[in-house]
Amino acid sequence: MAASAPGRVNLIGEHVDYNGGPVLPMAVARRTAVVAGLGHGFQAASTRDDVVDRFDPDGPMRGGWTDFLAGVVRALRRRGLAPAGAALAAASTVPVGGGLSSSAALAVAAARALAALGGHALTGAELARVAWEAEHDEVGVRCGTMDQTIAALAQPGKALLYETATGVTRQLPFRGKLWLVDTGVRHRLADGGYNQRRAECDEALALLRGAGWELPHLAAYPPARLPASLPPHLARRVAHVATETSRTRAAAEALGRGDLRTVGKLMYESHRSLQHDYAASCEEADVLVESAERLGAWGARLTGAGWGGTVVVLADERSAPRLILDLQAQFARIYGRVPEAWATRASGGAKREAARG
Ligand code: GLA
Repeated sequence: MAASAPGRVNLIGEHVDYNGGPVLPMAVARRTAVVAGLGHGFQAASTRDDVVDRFDPDGPMRGGWTDFLAGVVRALRRRGLAPAGAALAAASTVPVGGGLSSSAALAVAAARALAALGGHALTGAELARVAWEAEHDEVGVRCGTMDQTIAALAQPGKALLYETATGVTRQLPFRGKLWLVDTGVRHRLADGGYNQRRAECDEALALLRGAGWELPHLAAYPPARLPASLPPHLARRVAHVATETSRTRAAAEALGRGDLRTVGKLMYESHRSLQHDYAASCEEADVLVESAERLGAWGARLTGAGWGGTVVVLADERSAPRLILDLQAQFARIYGRVPEAWATRASGGAKREAARG
């Protein structure tokens, strides 16, 4: 059985999925494929290294990529959907650590292939849930639900407005192209910054509730009010979450009427909020976003968990190729290397890859 799932880019709505806010991601045209056959015990090979590795879903996590497969097996087992053993092979064109959700692509593709091996077809929402449990509960990454959801539910030519508090989703047409520019700076999601921000958001929510605010989640805090009663760094985190929530809804509306310039303006604002209030950017990303703005792009921002990874650029399709070359040249003058850049349209989500012939 073979299945594949895409990486994703988040247009806007960063660090709000674990705060109950809306996100607006779409699938990119780079995917991870997983082939699964029945086996004794579990073994896996990947085109990224040259070994066939045995792994034990009942054993401790080992800190490698097969942890995600072990996590998927466990999450499927809880539902009675996992095969007793499997031989798996993975191949991917999603860059690892580039902020494009390579791990969700792997987990979703593996869940699709392994469930199919046992003769089960999961709905998109079930697939997303299995992959999220694998990453969150089993591997122990404190991620939100955006990445698995878009990898499972994406449709070609559509961005997905996903309200994380209610689970309501809406497919919005996105017929343009996006350019992705890799800062070359790598983060590890499980590392400090992300978990620290999550803890700060939890702390801020507890303090606001203690001060009498009736908030179901942090994204419900009104954007126009600065939470003066909080310590300054927590007030800035809340300001980001609240303003990002309203920017994302505004961007979804603008996208609905095909107004990409407004989407772009909101992307710049989102980046500045991520940079100053959430303190989750990096210098290379700030340089790229500022240069993109000077060069006339409609919008640009760091996408994904932050502290490195990929800057997404929205620009007029005709002038974009030239603009991206200039952007690369400006970056190269400062950092002495040309950042990788590629274009994508909104792609499709997880699917079975049928054998041909
Ligand atoms: C990572 C997480 C997501 C989300 C983003 C930030 O990609 O996996 O759940 O929190 O960071 O928006």
